[in-house]
Amino acid sequence: MEEIINEIKKTLKKIVSEYRLKHIMGVLYTAKMLANKYNIEESRAELAAVGHDLFRDIKPYKFLKIAKVYGIKISFEEEKNPILLHGKIAAEYLKREYNIPDDIYEAIYYHTSGYKYYGLIGKILFVSDSIEPTRNYDKVEYFRKIAFHDINKAYKEILKNKIIYSLNKNHFLLNNTVEAWNNILQY
Ligand SMILES: [Fe+2]
Ligand SMILES: [Fe+2]
Repeated sequence: MEEIINEIKKTLKKIVSEYRLKHIMGVLYTAKMLANKYNIEESRAELAAVGHDLFRDIKPYKFLKIAKVYGIKISFEEEKNPILLHGKIAAEYLKREYNIPDDIYEAIYYHTSGYKYYGLIGKILFVSDSIEPTRNYDKVEYFRKIAFHDINKAYKEILKNKIIYSLNKNHFLLNNTVEAWNNILQY
């Protein structure tokens, strides 16, 4: 897995901005710490982290094209806002190129929306993406604190925060976000 991670890092340097690279390295750092805290293999968290925003900075018009090539079903929301596809495209690419494990594929595929069936690695990526050191917003310190005590609570609170943010901005709610939220409330 180390080899794959290093190859992805090399690709990142070619296709993401410096700003994005800092964010990705922040996610990597945070995901590794959370992996240690919750007893999953560090390298699995690393792979999810380095892969998740691989295509975040490609030109927007390319998202729909690549998604079609990969056979990704494009929702109305994605058609209107193709950048939403960047996680799905990264997951499909990494599956084809490196045959990444299913749970890491899902972690990356749904990192923008959250996912009803997320495993631990999915929650770690989702949370790390929102609390990595370069993130700076109202509740981030609170989220950082709870992430290291209760990953499920952190996932729930961050998802909730994203939903509230989207509503306030009059942004779409993605179906997977709503499903993930409703699923959390069942337990
Ligand atoms: Fe992303
Ligand atoms: Fe990200």
